[in-house]
Amino acid sequence: MHTPTPYPIRPRRVSFDWRDTPLHWIPDEPVATHVINVLHLLLPAGERWFVKVFKEALPLVTDPELLGDVKGFMGQEATHSVQHSYVLDHLAEQGLDTHPYTRHVDWMFDVLLGDEPPAGLPLSRREWLRFRLSLIAAIEQFTAVLGDWILRADGLDRADPDAVMLDLLRWHGAEEVEHRAVAFDMYQHAGGSGLPRYLRRVYGMAVTAPVLLWLWAFGAAYLIRHDPQLRGRLGYTLREHNKAVRKGLLPTWGELGAAIPRYLRRSYHPSQEGSLRNAVAYLATSPAARAAAGAVARAAVS
Ligand SMILES: [Fe+2]
Ligand SMILES: [Fe+2]
Repeated sequence: MHTPTPYPIRPRRVSFDWRDTPLHWIPDEPVATHVINVLHLLLPAGERWFVKVFKEALPLVTDPELLGDVKGFMGQEATHSVQHSYVLDHLAEQGLDTHPYTRHVDWMFDVLLGDEPPAGLPLSRREWLRFRLSLIAAIEQFTAVLGDWILRADGLDRADPDAVMLDLLRWHGAEEVEHRAVAFDMYQHAGGSGLPRYLRRVYGMAVTAPVLLWLWAFGAAYLIRHDPQLRGRLGYTLREHNKAVRKGLLPTWGELGAAIPRYLRRSYHPSQEGSLRNAVAYLATSPAARAAAGAVARAAVS
């Protein structure tokens, strides 16, 4: 059953000025900087793909409340995708070209996970759509966990990061917590019923978790290897990663790993993930979200 948020989910028309953001936006912490930067590599194509798959699934939604939340979700994810793609432009301006990596990500979402099942896969169109919805629900489990983490990440505050980047990440994280249940509810609604629906949900997570880990490791390694300021002096290793975790600059493996068995529980529902209160509180103070709300208000009275 769909459990709507206490208020309608709507996109906020934010904008960010990247002109003064340094390449290492967490000072002297290139590993943590680039591990988090992997978000900018994956999300422009990934969130655009969410919107495309949801558009395909819209005719299956018969619950008007869910339909409203799904449309709000699509608006939020489309905005996230565009804002993260601007960061890639900024990285390119600073001498870090990400195209050789992102073209693989684009291929994965646009071709491998496109409208038709990959050649030779004996799946009906409906089953292919349900499978892709199960992937989105599983990915959204991690975005909710990461969103909640970034809102609470005191270690990041202590490291004095670039304020614009921190606002982008926390605005995005807060909206992820805000819409944490929508992809799951969409899957439950359009994914059939009973054991087949549950098993597909398990399968969706079994595919998502290792692929995400793999994309993340290769993405961080790519960024560190091609960072023009590091010039190959540093490699991406588990030891360096864990050092950043100990400083509170990255989430712990335990926090990330625990999200999986939680999601696999038959009775699971993501409305308990993270803190909606923290998310709403951040959105009320986020410079970008406040500026967007001001722009909407000004447009309404003019
Ligand atoms: Fe998002
Ligand atoms: Fe999301």
